[in-house]
Amino acid sequence: MGLDYQGKDFMNVIGDRRSCRFYDPNRPVEPEKIQAICQAARTASHMGNANAVTITIVSKQETKDAFTKIVSSFNIPMAQMAPVSLVFALDRKWWFEGLPEMLPKIFKLGAINPSHGWSLDNIENSTLPRLTTFPDPVVSYMLSCETGMAMAQAQLMATALGLGCCAYAGVPPKIGELLGFPETAQFVWAMAIGYPGETVESMGMRPRRAYGDIIYQEKFGTPAIADPAVDEELTKLGVLQPESALTPERLAAINAAAEQMGLPTRTDENG
Ligand SMILES: Cc1cc2nc3c(=O)[nH]c(=O)nc-3n(C[C@H](O)[C@H](O)[C@H](O)COP(=O)(O)O)c2cc1C
Repeated sequence: MGLDYQGKDFMNVIGDRRSCRFYDPNRPVEPEKIQAICQAARTASHMGNANAVTITIVSKQETKDAFTKIVSSFNIPMAQMAPVSLVFALDRKWWFEGLPEMLPKIFKLGAINPSHGWSLDNIENSTLPRLTTFPDPVVSYMLSCETGMAMAQAQLMATALGLGCCAYAGVPPKIGELLGFPETAQFVWAMAIGYPGETVESMGMRPRRAYGDIIYQEKFGTPAIADPAVDEELTKLGVLQPESALTPERLAAINAAAEQMGLPTRTDENG
């Protein structure tokens, strides 16, 4: 029992997170670790504190089998191998019905204050009437950001607890139908969770666009400059790690994991 948390350093948690696509199907994930991951998601930031992110924990073989027909084909091995999948959805009910409860609540406890122009009067007569009359697609758009925030925290907790994880797509209405979603709930993304069948080092940090290509200063498109000394420090701390490469060792690791699962292997970078 217990989380068996080894105190993984925060910087390493960020740096070690990977999208892991091989799992040990025979090593179950402890329920307490799943609970910790869900708590990390639940405590993520929520718009207006709506708390509209839902997670359906899926581990039964019959559900995993049903997933083979309703997740993208390249995700089937992952959904089968991972002992647990977390199905993230947004529930607009918690926007339309939850905001009227939550906004006054966070005002009363001092999270939002008159210092910033908040009052119970403007919440009731201005903010809530505006927010709760947004059309469904607008609410879904906003809540999908909230869901992404929750998923990110879930992934960091999984990494901290020595687990692998990977977000994976599915066919929204069919997943909702299978899991009994109400009309107000909308599938966002699933997440495989399990003990990794490959190592953090072998997976390597996946390539990213150059800093200045996507981080801008003051004006969109004006590259922000990354200080090499800061990057060096981040590298020492484990936040920035060597980029993944298909070395002979990596190829062998992929093929060993694939063979163990009875999955097709690969020969080189082209296939
Ligand atoms: C919203 C979202 C959806 C994703 N969907 C899938 C997916 O359907 N299948 C998959 O194998 N990986 C999926 N991924 C993982 C990405 O492919 C992965 O994050 C990317 O290749 C970078 O690798 P890294 O996560 O190891 O840094 C998804 C990631 C995000 C953020």
